[in-house]
Amino acid sequence: MSLRHFLTLMDLSPDELVGLIQRAIELKANHARGQVHTPLNRKVMAMIFEKASTRTRVSFESGMSQLGGHAIFLSPNDTQLGRGESVEDSARALSGMVDIIMVRTFEHDKIQRFADAASVPVINALTDLYHPCQLLADVMTWVEQRGEIRGRTAAWIGDGNNMCHSWMNAARQFDFKLRIATPEGYGPDPDLLQACAGQVELMSDPQAAVAGADLVVTDVWASMGQESEQAARMAEFAPFQVNETLMTQAGDNALFMHCLPAHRGEEVSAGVIDGPQSVVWQEAANRLHGQKALLEFLLR
Ligand code: CP
Ligand code: NVA
Repeated sequence: MSLRHFLTLMDLSPDELVGLIQRAIELKANHARGQVHTPLNRKVMAMIFEKASTRTRVSFESGMSQLGGHAIFLSPNDTQLGRGESVEDSARALSGMVDIIMVRTFEHDKIQRFADAASVPVINALTDLYHPCQLLADVMTWVEQRGEIRGRTAAWIGDGNNMCHSWMNAARQFDFKLRIATPEGYGPDPDLLQACAGQVELMSDPQAAVAGADLVVTDVWASMGQESEQAARMAEFAPFQVNETLMTQAGDNALFMHCLPAHRGEEVSAGVIDGPQSVVWQEAANRLHGQKALLEFLLR
């Protein structure tokens, strides 16, 4: 099979993505039954983290271990990449030693260059532009809770960030509607918006965006790398908090999602994230199963 990477949701076909979600649900059930499934026996994954992580690191490390393989955590503090060795040289060297590489970094261009130089599959574990692995877990959670996502309506409230961009790609690939409400100047990438025009609508009013929606999603107001903007963003984003009042505008059966980590009292009220419509803990747990299905797919 030719080399496949997973840098954005657009790297897989819609059919492959739907198949992957089904496989993740199956793997989760098998795991709950105690089934031992080790198709990645002796396979090794390198995990490069240039930003912090709790869920992504632990889900990939546990996933590789459950599938019979092994994962190696690499941080810039301890690698030559952190001392200026080029992305391309690092990719070539690691490709000779491991079977698959996961990268969490800042510039999306960096992971693209890394993948271009690598001769093993590369997975995007978050860049400034995209977080596709999170969407595997999020769509899986939707399917478990409510069935097919095709034709449904989701509302993204807050920053037009990496998670927002991956939700936009998900709307295209899984064929649902996405309404986005962001403060002025914090919208998603205009070229991506153009490419998603059939499925995605940008608005300025959060009430209008959530009206009758099946799903409401948000994320932090300042992402990793934007810490210096936190105070300014707090003021700009205040009207975009997902709280009980806003949720009353959504559909009766609407779900609430957040990739986590969350800041209660900022982008989401405690009442919503800890309330009955929230499925954030299922989302977090599904990172494990979605990525196991992805690892199987890329290493089959
Ligand atoms: N949602 C997510 O990617 O979490 P971590 O930053 O903890 O990996
Ligand atoms: N938008 C957030 C997502 C964290 C999982 C960030 O990039 O920090």
